[in-house]
Amino acid sequence: MSKTVTLTDNTTGKSIELPIQEGSHGPNCLDVRTLYKELGYFTYDPGFMSTASCRSDVTFIDGDEGTLLYRGYPIEQLAEESTYLEVCYLLLNGDLPAADDLHDFSRIIKEHSMLHEAVRRFFDGFRHDAHPMAIMVGVVGALSAFYHDNVDVHNPEHRRIAAHRLISKMPTIAAWSYKYANGQPFMYPDNNLSYTANFLAMMFGVPSEPYQPNPVFVRALDLILILHADHEQNASTSTVRLSGSSEANPFAAISAGIASLWGPLHGGANEKVIRMLEEIVHSDKSVEDFVARAKDKNDSFRLMGFGHRVYKNYDPRAKIIRKMCHDLLAEMGDMGADNQPLFDVAMELERIAMEDDYFIERKLYPNVDFYSGIILRAMGIPLNMFTVIFALARTVGWISHWNEMMQDPESRIGRPRQLYTGYRSRDYTSIEER
Ligand code: CMC
Repeated sequence: MSKTVTLTDNTTGKSIELPIQEGSHGPNCLDVRTLYKELGYFTYDPGFMSTASCRSDVTFIDGDEGTLLYRGYPIEQLAEESTYLEVCYLLLNGDLPAADDLHDFSRIIKEHSMLHEAVRRFFDGFRHDAHPMAIMVGVVGALSAFYHDNVDVHNPEHRRIAAHRLISKMPTIAAWSYKYANGQPFMYPDNNLSYTANFLAMMFGVPSEPYQPNPVFVRALDLILILHADHEQNASTSTVRLSGSSEANPFAAISAGIASLWGPLHGGANEKVIRMLEEIVHSDKSVEDFVARAKDKNDSFRLMGFGHRVYKNYDPRAKIIRKMCHDLLAEMGDMGADNQPLFDVAMELERIAMEDDYFIERKLYPNVDFYSGIILRAMGIPLNMFTVIFALARTVGWISHWNEMMQDPESRIGRPRQLYTGYRSRDYTSIEER
């Protein structure tokens, strides 16, 4: 017998049975689709605190336990054993690839890495000091002009090609956003390199001399990409789903996701964390003073990289990144020395916050952004590229969710309702009478 919850309207005495939808893991859902028809109410849930917007097989988070699974695989195992391209295959297709599948997938992704030469000219339209995330929003959106008439969003093969193009072209767009701001020549993709090494080569290479990506950095960056590849229905993924639900062009929908990711409460936090740590390192105030400011409701200062809507425990990605940060700085020795003070302050902040009632009561722990910036900074990646790298990594998650939505027979155009609080009705008055 299917489980239900009985809901009684105390104003009318009318009762209805709402079915419980059971997932494979995590809280079940109360199916409220008939609520308006039966009782005439909408649900009110700003920020979607208690609302599941879709079914999904892609990623699972247990926020209380601090676990994260991609297609059922624990993030710790993927971080230890896998590569970013293998994780892309897993997220897109649902299972880990056989050796031949991974070989073919890598080849296909490499084949699409170049941009149309006309896309290159888009970069010239930006101011020299444009934020690379602004450039990403514009250039990825512009790809819809190149792949529009030949993308039928109902055709699985077209969706597959769009996914490959996006995963493949994102490193080129990201690296060129950086090159443009630096006034350096754009470097074309080198398909002899791995996905991650190629990105570093396009960022840091110059035509006048050979560039050999540092294998330690390649592995560190690959790990960062794995950890950021998906995170279920976060703001940017939900943005991609909502914009894609109107059957919009996928490149335009992904561009909307990039815009959402840029915000400081989402992917933009990694940039803000480093600014905060630098401020603390150079300040004559103590770490305790900054923690006190974060707790003061009259001060807008928050501990960036702390807290999460879903995790009420340590973010498992932050644990992996903290260890990686430790290992990387140790391996770099003197080369990474100027990042050590930031890492020391970050660990001190974490120690103080974790013993403080304010953070304990609210279950505020370090999130993925808290330590990731130190690694990127140690690799020589400038601050304004941090969120770009997040966007590059998350593209596979966005496109996997978009694809899942397009295949879901229950999916419909996203159209939330509202609790209207404006005027009921009033008559227009001429400008002389106002
Ligand atoms: N520093 C100080 N207080 C905080 C912080 C923080 N970083 N985060 C939350 N709080 C407090 C908040 O003031 C509130 O207190 P009270 O109950 O007294 O009003 C309580 O904790 C709950 O916070 P909230 O803002 O209602 O929680 P939320 O789920 O709406 O927001 C969040 C989650 C991630 C936006 C928030 O924790 C935050 O602003 N963190 C800093 C920004 C950040 O690190 N963002 C990256 C998130 S992870 C990666 C990603 O999503 O891209």
